[in-house]
Parts: sequence; C-alpha cells; structure tokens
Amino acid sequence: MNGRARVSVPASSGNLGAGFDVFGLAIDLRDEYEFEPDTRDAIEPLGKYLKHVPRDPRRNLAFRAFRSLAPVTAGPFKLSATREIPPQGGLGGSASAIVGGLVAANHAFGLGLDNDELLHRANEIEGHPDNVAAALLGGLVLTVQTDESLHAVRVPFPSDIGIVVVVPGYHVPTARARAVLPVDVSRSDAVANLGRAAMFVAALQTGRYAKLRVATQDFLHQPYRAELNPALVPGVRAALDAGAYGAALSGSGPTLIALAPKNHTMRVAGAMADVAIESSSGCETYVANAAETGATAIEPAAST
Ligand code: HSE
Repeated sequence: MNGRARVSVPASSGNLGAGFDVFGLAIDLRDEYEFEPDTRDAIEPLGKYLKHVPRDPRRNLAFRAFRSLAPVTAGPFKLSATREIPPQGGLGGSASAIVGGLVAANHAFGLGLDNDELLHRANEIEGHPDNVAAALLGGLVLTVQTDESLHAVRVPFPSDIGIVVVVPGYHVPTARARAVLPVDVSRSDAVANLGRAAMFVAALQTGRYAKLRVATQDFLHQPYRAELNPALVPGVRAALDAGAYGAALSGSGPTLIALAPKNHTMRVAGAMADVAIESSSGCETYVANAAETGATAIEPAAST
C-alpha cells in the first residue's frame, strides 16, 4: 500500500477459431509492469520489445490504466515496463498492459477490487473481453457479455497440449480486422460456430483432442479476415498437415496459433514458419504452454 507494485501478466490468444470474442487462452510469454513513486511521471522501456513501449505516460496503456484507479491525490510515478509479448498483433499485448496497470494499482493502493471488478474495468478500456479475461485469470477463459454484466468462467486447459505461435512479418490493425466483419451472419454460420465452440470445450474436457480439428474451424470471422492475413489459410493447413490438433488465427491476427501434441510442436512450428515466411518478410515462432496463472503481483525489485 505504498504506491509500489510489480505485476507479471501473460500473453493471450482470443477466439481459438470458433470462439469469436468468447474464448481467451493465457500463454506463458509474460510482460512485467513495475510502478514506483518518483519525482515525475516517466516510463522506462525494458525487455525484448522495448521499442514498442510508448514512452509518453499519456499514451501508455498500462500507465493510463494504473492512473484510472490511483487516488486523485497520488503523486508522480515511474513505470518500468518489460515487454516480452510479441507486439505485432494477436497475442493480447494491449490486454496485458491494461490488466497490468489495473492490477498494479489495486495492489499499490490496497483498493481490494476483486477479479470481477477488475475484469469489468479492463473490458471497458479494451472493448472486448476475451484477451483481458485470460490475461487477468490465466488458463482458458470463456466470457459472456450481457446488458448488465460480464460473466467469465475459467476452465482447465490440458497440460499435455503444446502451443505454437507464429507471428508473420506483416501488421493487421485490430480496428481494420474488425471493420471487415459483417454485421449480420447467416443462421447456418451461427449454428456451425455454436457447435464447434461447444465441441472445443468438450474435446478438452474429455481428452478427445482429435475433435479439435473441426472445433477450431470458424465461419464468423476468419473467412473475412483471410484477405488481410495471407498466411492464415496455408498456415492452418500446414499446421494440421504437420500433426497439430487444430489451428486458427490468434485474435484478429496476424499471429497464428496451433494446438499440438507436445512432441510435435517443433515440427508444427517449422511448417507454419515456412508458410509465414512465404507470405511476408519474415516471422517469429514460439513454442509455449498455456499460462496457469493470470496477472500476478510479485515483489517489487529492491530500491537502489
Ligand atoms: N476477439 C477479438 C477479435 C480479439 O477477434 O477481434 C482481438 O485481438
């Protein structure tokens, strides 16, 4: 309660195919946000992607989220932001920043907000719940938004499924990826996704991972986003051919995600990377696990 806090937040992948705006999976690539009182508001960018950390506190999402909960009487702060989540899009970088700022403020000022309240706030800032829910709670999270509130339930994600993430070298702004989606969808497409989303959860719960191949198919967003994401269709095919259980666009792209047996992840990653490189100037590939823990306050580094 001394205005100091250090929070670790996982990456997240939204949608997972059929669960458009509903499914969020936390992934064990983590950013860190450390706030401490200082003589003026300042940002220290750190980590592999430090160049992508906005240095202006008024433009930095984590800083703004922190300020939105800080008491009005609170003085200036320094934020040390360690960015390890690939920033190109599709891995919940903005969700991580928002959740990091909110959880840090909750901790630093002893606000006592519970996860429902934090999630509600994070969703208001982000505009869609799937990434912020996974970043906050960890694991696989399902969200339902009603007029009154946001409901989130975390379900177990099997530890024997490996995650492959491939980030192509092109950029697709989320706003553009949402703008290409139709306002109305057909009943047949709605039913197709409904069954697949339900089957996704059932397949994980029952260990029938072979069903993930059909359960990660989508009719509500991927067909419309394929034009913006040239690696999507061939990347999913390459992942399946290389032994993945299922593959999809991660969030609104351009990142692709595959769920695979752990002993196939390197092969799947290689096959997807080959496709991504053909479709763009290059790519980054990660073999990871689901993150068991969501946003976590950790001991601030000792002052110097
Ligand atoms: N569910 C969101 C979308 C995720 O697909 O637009 C954005 O990262």
